[in-house]
Amino acid sequence: MTSTLRSYNLVAWLYETTAGWYSLGRIGKSKAWQVQYLKPGDKVLYAGAGAGEDAMLAAQAGAAVTCVDTASKMLQRAQRRIEAEGFTAEYIHADVNDVAADGSYDAVAANYFFTSFDTEGEMVGVMDHLVGLLKPGGKLMIADWAPQRGTGWRRVVQKTHKAVGNGLYWLIGLAYLRPIREYPEYLQAAGLEMQHLEEFPLTRWGPNSFWSMVAQLPDAPSDP
Ligand SMILES: C[S@@+](CC[C@H](N)C(=O)[O-])C[C@H]1O[C@@H](n2cnc3c(N)ncnc32)[C@H](O)[C@@H]1O
Repeated sequence: MTSTLRSYNLVAWLYETTAGWYSLGRIGKSKAWQVQYLKPGDKVLYAGAGAGEDAMLAAQAGAAVTCVDTASKMLQRAQRRIEAEGFTAEYIHADVNDVAADGSYDAVAANYFFTSFDTEGEMVGVMDHLVGLLKPGGKLMIADWAPQRGTGWRRVVQKTHKAVGNGLYWLIGLAYLRPIREYPEYLQAAGLEMQHLEEFPLTRWGPNSFWSMVAQLPDAPSDP
């Protein structure tokens, strides 16, 4: 956790620019795509909000936004950006695991966030915690790397692209080997139902590199 905190503070100023360049804009698109599933007035929490390009779009769409991040410099960038556009949000400088899971949010976004957790057990624990933040019927939104699919040149291109991504992370001090996970399976195991899923390939011919999804908790059971 300490290394995550230090590293993201150091790279806050270049994080989104590098991500945009590296993904040919697909990372930004994968996050922006989710906003169409939010309604004005929805209470939305961005876990590991980073510099807030998606949180700002949610605020613009009329959502009541909360940004949570362990890196103060990331959070400051999110705040500056949202306020510069004339919107307000709540900013919590904390580990999202320390935010009380009070079931009060209409939606929680975990974008390029679960890759911060090295082990499957850690990732599942954090996902369960995020589910606990949701109201019945609430949505968990995830944008992240997509698993490698297909064969031949597509696989080679995707592996190479991922290796370049890992290299960039290493260069800027976030030296993790970030596993790519089958989020739909984890979401189902956590009791959510997939509502929408979109892939964001690097080129129109593939390979798929990023994906974004919206899964929903069941509504509260009605009285008999
Ligand atoms: C890869 S960045 C993604 C940022 C943003 N969601 C985006 O898509 O641009 C991951 C962010 O999660 C934050 N983070 C990592 N672990 C966290 C935790 N346990 N609680 C809150 N934030 C955390 C990091 O500081 C960093 O800003």
